[in-house]
Amino acid sequence: MTTPDHGARLKQVAGANILITAVAIAFAMAIDPTLGPLAPALCLLAFAIASEFVSVPIAAGRLSGCFGAVLAIGWISGPALGVLAAIIVTLVEARRHGTRRASIAVNVAGLAVAALLAGAAAHLAQVRGVDAADTTFALVCFAAYMAAICIEFWWVFSADLGDDLEPLGVMTRHILVPLLPQFACMACVTAALPMLYSQFGTTALLLVFTVLLSFQSLVRALLLSRQRADQLDESVREIAERERALERLSFGALRALVQSVNLRDRMTARHSGAVARYAREIARELGLDDHEQETVHMAGLLHDVGKHIFTDAILTGGRKLTDDQFELVKQHPGVGAELVRGMPGYERVSDIIRHHHERIDGRGYPDGLAGEDIPLLSRCISVADTYDVMTSRDSYRRPVSRQEAIAELRRVAGAQLDAAVVDAFIRALERTDVRFDHGSADDLERQLAVDSWRQRRAA
Ligand SMILES: [Fe+2]
Ligand SMILES: [Fe+2]
Repeated sequence: MTTPDHGARLKQVAGANILITAVAIAFAMAIDPTLGPLAPALCLLAFAIASEFVSVPIAAGRLSGCFGAVLAIGWISGPALGVLAAIIVTLVEARRHGTRRASIAVNVAGLAVAALLAGAAAHLAQVRGVDAADTTFALVCFAAYMAAICIEFWWVFSADLGDDLEPLGVMTRHILVPLLPQFACMACVTAALPMLYSQFGTTALLLVFTVLLSFQSLVRALLLSRQRADQLDESVREIAERERALERLSFGALRALVQSVNLRDRMTARHSGAVARYAREIARELGLDDHEQETVHMAGLLHDVGKHIFTDAILTGGRKLTDDQFELVKQHPGVGAELVRGMPGYERVSDIIRHHHERIDGRGYPDGLAGEDIPLLSRCISVADTYDVMTSRDSYRRPVSRQEAIAELRRVAGAQLDAAVVDAFIRALERTDVRFDHGSADDLERQLAVDSWRQRRAA
């Protein structure tokens, strides 16, 4: 926001710079009142404006051949035309970029003074007998270019019109000094222009400018496309970060869901913990990778979240279900799957949940899938589920021993359960003594402690 004090300062700075520009014109006219030749001046002015339109974006601003062209006008056609060209190109640039008025005055004066000094140096050399075709003249022009670019830089930044500008010394070190090699290259090309003009005329200048503008356009196009690619990368990174945040949020919601099931129905919650534990062991035994093991673990934890639609009579009763109650029971995989599907990144877990009551012979629910049409991880859940229902001490049924449960798994393998998955589970049971303690809350907490997995997966 512009305060009254700041506004007054801007007016003072603008007024002083307009005055300085006028003085620069007067000095230039006084040094050399002859205006010309005009043809190279017009040619250089056209190049300066065209070059401004294809300026190359860099970290510290823009690079173009505009500055050099203005100085070259002063060297070839006299300091007065150089100063005039400085005013014209700065106004064109300001209009193009919507520069503030006070900054326009500063920029015009900065370039005008730079053009005046460079033009004066060249004029002085010529007065002392140095011919424009001589190497000495080119060296004078080179030195004048480097001095002029520093003068212009300091002029513009010492006006201190930008927002939160750093001290001039810091900006010199951070902006001007790193750019000096590029400026030196541009000074070499620019310093050669008077020599070129004196030997080959305006046509040679036109030829050089065509090449320079083509090269500048090419560099600009390359840099812009790289900037767009960087922006695209940045957008992709932002989207991925948002997705990760959403996944973390989703996981928090799902964890709360399991714990809310725990509050209403402790047996189902601990059963879910046990199924997650067993299903992960099966996946490991089948040789599935860590990601698959983690996915089936999560699906195990959530496989019965659809049970919240059960009435208390279904949840806690030990009696045979009525037909209506069984219809409700058959809905829980679908309801649970829909609940989980709403969470971004959980589509696969949702599919596994939906099919955890399918049977290998196609007589399960909700979709009656058979054999390998049932997702493998759903088949793992089915085996873990069946085993835990049989062996759990929390179950309203009489728990059976591990050996009896294994015998039952073998009996239904190939009809209700996938035989290969049953075999894998039995191998895991016999080898690692996989257990889940339904009697304590600790085992459930251990199964729920998967935050580190979520973070790893989201990383
Ligand atoms: Fe279930
Ligand atoms: Fe279950």
